Amino acid sequence: MALFTSSTRSVPAAAAVPAHVAIIMDGNGRWARKRLLPRVAGHHRGVETVREMVKACLARGVSYLTLFAFSSENWRRPADEVSLLMQLFGRALREEVRKLDRNGVRLRVVGDLSRFEPELQALIEASQQRTAANSRLVLTIAANYGGRWDILQAVNRLRLAEPEKTGEWSEADLAPYLAMSYAPEPDLFIRTGGEQRISNFLLWQLAYSELYFTDVLWPEFDAPSFDRAIASYQQRERRFGRTSEQLSAARSADGLSDPPLDA
Ligand code: IPE
Ligand code: IPE
Ligand code: MG
Repeated sequence: MALFTSSTRSVPAAAAVPAHVAIIMDGNGRWARKRLLPRVAGHHRGVETVREMVKACLARGVSYLTLFAFSSENWRRPADEVSLLMQLFGRALREEVRKLDRNGVRLRVVGDLSRFEPELQALIEASQQRTAANSRLVLTIAANYGGRWDILQAVNRLRLAEPEKTGEWSEADLAPYLAMSYAPEPDLFIRTGGEQRISNFLLWQLAYSELYFTDVLWPEFDAPSFDRAIASYQQRERRFGRTSEQLSAARSADGLSDPPLDA
């Protein structure tokens, strides 16, 4: 499996389309409330937006789509909403995996899955295995995920793997143990629903992602909204600590030949 060095180390080619888009899908409850519907109706409608986003990523050549479906803090919600969200997750897996597979989508689920019902855990495992050979798009669902949990589980696994080591650890030592070590860091982060916060999503991996916040509620987020986010991303200059002048010089010299930071 290819491991990616941090995208903050060298200047990446100015790709027109972000390779990795990570989304906090927020606003389902408010969408439902506006229509005098129960919150869960918003979650149902939100699954349709997920379908639409997968289609949009396939059509635009995005290689990694990561969706925050349930945070480690979402257990604090009323028990009936949590249970409905679990049911909905299971149902979506059962109903969608065949289509994902047909379209060359690899499904991955990251988070502390040990807290889920054994049946749901088995379904997740089977869905991942079924799509394991696909590579057109990697769709990652973050479920019972928290950025702090991710960093801590990586530290703990690293310590277990190298119990004898006494010196200091580097970022490169830790990176392979992070839950999304199989993907480059997100180029574009989107949060729908109007809040402007990270809510314990990918804390380590978002270090240099371009952030895009929109008031559009997740059930109403559609392909044109997605294109607006990508257009905003395409306006940004990703400097990773350098100056604008350094970037132009590197581009006009020979494509992007800027040396890595630690070279
Ligand atoms: C996001 O929508 C879905 C989950 C967190 C599971 P919300 O349920 O947070 O919707 P709002 O924020 O209440 O509108
Ligand atoms: C963040 O949404 C988590 C998911 C989208 C799964 P929330 O709506 O739970 O976020 P906060 O707690 O309001 O920040
Ligand atoms: Mg919310």
